[in-house]
Amino acid sequence: MSAVVADALERSFGEVRALDGLSFEVAAGELYGLVGPDGAGKTTSLRILAGVMKPDAGAAYVLGRDPMSTDEVVRSSIGYMPQQYSLYGDLSVEENLSFFSKMFCLDRATYRERRERLLEITRLGRFTDRRADALSGGMYKKLALACSLLSRPQVLILDEPTNGVDPVSRRELWALLFELVEEGMAVIVSTAYMDEAERCHRVGLIHDGRLHVEGDPTALLADFREGHGDDVTFEDLFLSVVREAA
Ligand SMILES: Nc1ncnc2c1ncn2[C@@H]1O[C@H](COP(=O)(O)OP(=O)(O)OP(=O)(O)O)[C@@H](O)[C@H]1O
Ligand SMILES: [Mg+2]
Repeated sequence: MSAVVADALERSFGEVRALDGLSFEVAAGELYGLVGPDGAGKTTSLRILAGVMKPDAGAAYVLGRDPMSTDEVVRSSIGYMPQQYSLYGDLSVEENLSFFSKMFCLDRATYRERRERLLEITRLGRFTDRRADALSGGMYKKLALACSLLSRPQVLILDEPTNGVDPVSRRELWALLFELVEEGMAVIVSTAYMDEAERCHRVGLIHDGRLHVEGDPTALLADFREGHGDDVTFEDLFLSVVREAA
């Protein structure tokens, strides 16, 4: 069974058709990249999968259940980091973690154990007293990620987690994502960076609310090079998909 299923999702905002029959699946232990230009429908689809928005038609399943369910098991199985993630700026790193642990109803012992591990993998251990709004952009994103991981979700949904993050932190964040998928998590990440798209196990290229190409990025690029020569890049592939769809 796929950990995440988007089945023919449709969603409009007035005249704008944000999702137009979008389908894809993500397995446990898989890192799936949702790649598309501005306005392609990435955020809308991730919101639906995270259970914070209803589709007009089609269905979403996380671990076989409706992500909109208020069932605690379903809620705690989904970690979601929205595109505009807001932490409490006037609270410290420690206080933010503690706040979210209360929101997830973690007992003290569980919180302490998870906090240790998250501080270690995000390397925020030295900054626990620093206020969130005094963190660098990359550190802030890592704290946001740590907060969304406190519930130890089986499915992690990240909307452009590295946007505006420096290359060093970007690399660290990706190393962290690979650790998580190795432990069996299903991770969906939207990105506008082609180097990140190429690192995913599978990518889906979306445009105008539809999936146009899907597969292993290395294999997709190899196929594309068959017809276009060895010099073309993944970005060229992406641009040609967008151009053809237009
Ligand atoms: N709440 C909303 N009200 C009106 N229109 C919306 C709303 N949310 C999304 N849209 C529109 O739906 C389309 C898809 O938006 P969405 O945010 O899903 O795209 P995206 O791929 O995440 O884009 P970006 O890369 O810019 O974040 C866009 O045309 C957007 O303007
Ligand atoms: Mg978006």
